[in-house]
Amino acid sequence: MGTIWPVVRLAEIDSTNDLAKRWAVDPEAPQAPVVIRADRQTKGRGRGLNHWWSDPGSLTFSILLDPRSIGLAEGQTPLTSLATAVGLAEVLIPLIRRGKLGIRWPNDVEIDRKKIAGILPESVNTVVGPRLVIGIGLNVRNQFDQAPPEIRAMATSLAEVADRPLDDGESEEIFGATLLQVKTALRQLADHDPALPARWSELDQLRGQQIQIEQGDQQISGVVAGIDARGGLKVVNDSGEQTVFGGRVLRPPFTP
Ligand code: BTN
Repeated sequence: MGTIWPVVRLAEIDSTNDLAKRWAVDPEAPQAPVVIRADRQTKGRGRGLNHWWSDPGSLTFSILLDPRSIGLAEGQTPLTSLATAVGLAEVLIPLIRRGKLGIRWPNDVEIDRKKIAGILPESVNTVVGPRLVIGIGLNVRNQFDQAPPEIRAMATSLAEVADRPLDDGESEEIFGATLLQVKTALRQLADHDPALPARWSELDQLRGQQIQIEQGDQQISGVVAGIDARGGLKVVNDSGEQTVFGGRVLRPPFTP
């Protein structure tokens, strides 16, 4: 299999997303498309102000892209996280032996409510045009005994659900397969392929559940009726159905 995008692998960096954002505005740095992978992040970031915990068993990388070069229109960039989640799901589903894998809108991949992968999409405007950074943290064979208690409670790894140990070679295959599947899903997004929203709707882990969504000071409660083709989460409550395009989803007992 040829290289899908050039990959730069680093032993240690603050955050692959932060480096990708620095490279995006630095004409001397490698240009998009490029994937930055780090064996260790000292300041790995999650959404909002969250820290992203990882260990040597995790895959942590960021894909730096010119969205226009893959045919993505400006309005489609918010959907890249759902597309990436679909790509990750396609890699992981054939490997898992127990549990149900799904997407927790807008950009987590979970198995039985435990997080196996997180996605952090970010946009950068540069003098040479828009750049897209898609950060991915994938738990392949993490040792959660060293993790903070809140991570241990809410995370899982591929090794746990594959029910067998995984070696370095498999980790590398998973990395390559992820790049390929994410590229495929982004192409489907650019092509307006209806199979993509059909797939994220199928993988929707929140459907039928009572949730709360925090959007700044506002809170919306209701039952999830699915994810629509525009990537919005449909929520039904006494005021009818509304579609939400951002926010933090809480599930009963309404914890993150
Ligand atoms: C989340 O679940 O809140 C998103 C987590 C994203 C983590 C990845 S790890 C590689 C990339 N670099 C970062 O600093 N974050 C993303």
